[in-house]
Amino acid sequence: MIVKNTETVSIGEKNSFPEDYGVKIEYSLPENFRFGVACSADQTEGGDVGSSWNDWYRRGKIKDGSDPAKCVDHWKRWKEDADLMKELGVSVCRIGLQWARIEPREGEFDEKVIERYREEIKYIKSLGIEPLVTLHHFGNPMWFEEKGGFLKDENLDLFLDYGKYMAEHLGDIVSEWLTINEPSVYAFRGYLGYDCPPGHNSMEEYLTVLSNLCYCHVVLYQSIHIQREDMGFTDTMVSVPNHLRVFQPKNPNNIYHRFCCSRVKKAFQTAAQKALLTGEYTWPLKNRHKVQRGEFADFIAVNYYARSTISSMADGTAEDCYRNDLGWEIYPEGITEVAKEAYEILKRPIWITENGTCDNMGVFRHRYIAEHLGEIAKSDLPIERYYHWCFVDNFEWLEGMSAKFGLVKADPETGERVPKISFDFYKALIEKRGVDKDIYNMYLKNQHYLKRKILIGAEDGNN
Ligand code: BGC
Repeated sequence: MIVKNTETVSIGEKNSFPEDYGVKIEYSLPENFRFGVACSADQTEGGDVGSSWNDWYRRGKIKDGSDPAKCVDHWKRWKEDADLMKELGVSVCRIGLQWARIEPREGEFDEKVIERYREEIKYIKSLGIEPLVTLHHFGNPMWFEEKGGFLKDENLDLFLDYGKYMAEHLGDIVSEWLTINEPSVYAFRGYLGYDCPPGHNSMEEYLTVLSNLCYCHVVLYQSIHIQREDMGFTDTMVSVPNHLRVFQPKNPNNIYHRFCCSRVKKAFQTAAQKALLTGEYTWPLKNRHKVQRGEFADFIAVNYYARSTISSMADGTAEDCYRNDLGWEIYPEGITEVAKEAYEILKRPIWITENGTCDNMGVFRHRYIAEHLGEIAKSDLPIERYYHWCFVDNFEWLEGMSAKFGLVKADPETGERVPKISFDFYKALIEKRGVDKDIYNMYLKNQHYLKRKILIGAEDGNN
């Protein structure tokens, strides 16, 4: 690997240094802004618990062959992880529940597992960190999957029963909930993109599953509120995290690009957003369960990663842009662009419930965080929280363990936790509630994604 001196190297006119290269980033975030981290159960806990991802691994579908049962063993190391979060200085964190572990057989809930989640949640709270709990994050128990999962209307009550059961059994200690992580991504990858379980490829199924998930969210939104009200609580906060991308036509002057861009955006993003947050069903979604219009989120939950550049009825990436190690465009301005669009659908406080990047060498994640939080600092939207994805390197679904999103590394042999430079950076940023001269000089000076372009060029032999 050739690491060149980024101050002097020139890589051609097209890719020459942007004018703001090396320009100082300095900002501060308001006193009441809360910093956090996010994880999901299926991606960190480990264990062969009979989930659809354990099965997907056995079928040889994980690109690098990693076994989610090994993962980073959060199920056993939860206390150590919570202590590290405390050291990081976050005041909020997002954790997930694993349905397959909680309900290993239809209708049979494992009380010991629930007790273990209670222990973890209570411990996190005792450290002064408020947990935001996700009920469903891409993984299903195989018994549910084998019945046809979310594709079959008659199965939906099985999921809703699980959700209600958890609200009943954790409602006394959990006030903040997320119902279903990224319904459109789950429906798309599993039922149209065919690369995630159950691996189907049908537009009709995608729309059916998405519509069913929108309905399930609304039912759970109401059930969690009712459950906690019955328990005497008035501080319940429930939402649904949507994966929001910025969509741009590849050539804005090309009518076909513009047409595809608008269609792809509606089908993947806008229709689901509207149905989930307000019960308004627009093309191409059908209101299969006759959901009444309403307001079904107490805050807007935004998962933001990248911008898409569209020239056909498929996703795409701009040719000349900064990219992460999975090839996703790094586009910090997008974090507030998508938040604004969501806010226009429903005016609620905004929580960024996921934002992060795949940086396998740990060389630009801190810059990525600095720039995304910098956009938030500039914005006048009511963005109240930021949960960085991911706290620890996670099982990245199809990519397995080789795509690194964590602030903390988990040693593949021993599981030992090793904080990365981005951990130190985020800790310093949290302490100062922003980026000042010292943080800039220490972590960000001369550090730009461009460096990555050069590294990639060096590897590929292109530059
Ligand atoms: C998902 C996470 C995933 C992350 C990075 C999000 O869309 O919610 O589970 O790890 O993207 O790919």
